[in-house]
Amino acid sequence: MAKWIKSINEMKRIIKSYKKNGKTIGFVPTMGYLHEGHISLIRCAKKENDIVIVSIFVNPLQFGENEDLDKYPRDIKRDLTICNNEGVNIVFNPSYEEMYPEDYKTYVVVEDITEGLCGAYRPGHFKGVTTVVTKLFNIVKPDRAYFGKKDYQQYIVIKQMVKDLNMDIEVIGCPIVREHDGLAMSSRNKYLSSEERKSAVSLSKALFHAKNLFEKGETNPLTIKKEIEKIILSYPKVKKIQYIEIIDPKTLKPVSKLKKGDIIALAVFVGDTRLIDNIEL
Ligand code: PAJ
Repeated sequence: MAKWIKSINEMKRIIKSYKKNGKTIGFVPTMGYLHEGHISLIRCAKKENDIVIVSIFVNPLQFGENEDLDKYPRDIKRDLTICNNEGVNIVFNPSYEEMYPEDYKTYVVVEDITEGLCGAYRPGHFKGVTTVVTKLFNIVKPDRAYFGKKDYQQYIVIKQMVKDLNMDIEVIGCPIVREHDGLAMSSRNKYLSSEERKSAVSLSKALFHAKNLFEKGETNPLTIKKEIEKIILSYPKVKKIQYIEIIDPKTLKPVSKLKKGDIIALAVFVGDTRLIDNIEL
């Protein structure tokens, strides 16, 4: 059975005893409402570590004022069952007050690579992410931490933070897990009506098509972006495209000519639901 722990002090006590016994710790930070994407990270952690810890905390700090904090899907019972079935050792599920007491004052900011892509449309988002992840790392003290490439910018930002702040943690990026029709799994897919769900496939359809064009020799980012836009806008429930960017995988800066390894990243509103996806060339 996975232990369900809400107290930071209790977590620290347990971690200390694991460390004393020489156990390696794999950590999967999440906001819960677990799906196959999260499960793939847990399985990866399970293979490479003695102990696996999953955190479930919907972090208000990383949501903008007009975003979906209040309606973000939650189902802790279901999440605990999944964690039990996957052999997770501890589910860390602190309250808001436990993480951010009234006198809280400290934030962690990664510059530059947080400014483009999602960062340009979600001010403060990455500051919230890097702050909570630093806190979680300090509590869990993992040897390895697992992040999905579904949130590619987040993965790169965390890697940068760990390097810059000399944290002794190996950050591991795991492949995007998709539904059968290609839609990247996300807790937010729950928001989609059945008509919107049909249009949500537009993101992956466009990305797969773009990769195909690149493999056939197309290297002009403008041409590729236009093709992506055409496909996505042909779906009826697509409200708007927030961005389509073709970026270098390390600097996250737009490229002038596509090369192998570049990332095509996009954010699209299907109805009122904001979906993101990306593909590696
Ligand atoms: P959350 O959206 O719950 O995602 C937790 C982890 O699961 C992230 O590393 C994310 O990239 C990964 N993930 C989500 N969908 C995936 C998919 N389809 N395939 C592979 N991996 C997937 O990301 C967060 O939470 C938060 O920002 C967090 C890091 C926990 C900080 O609050």
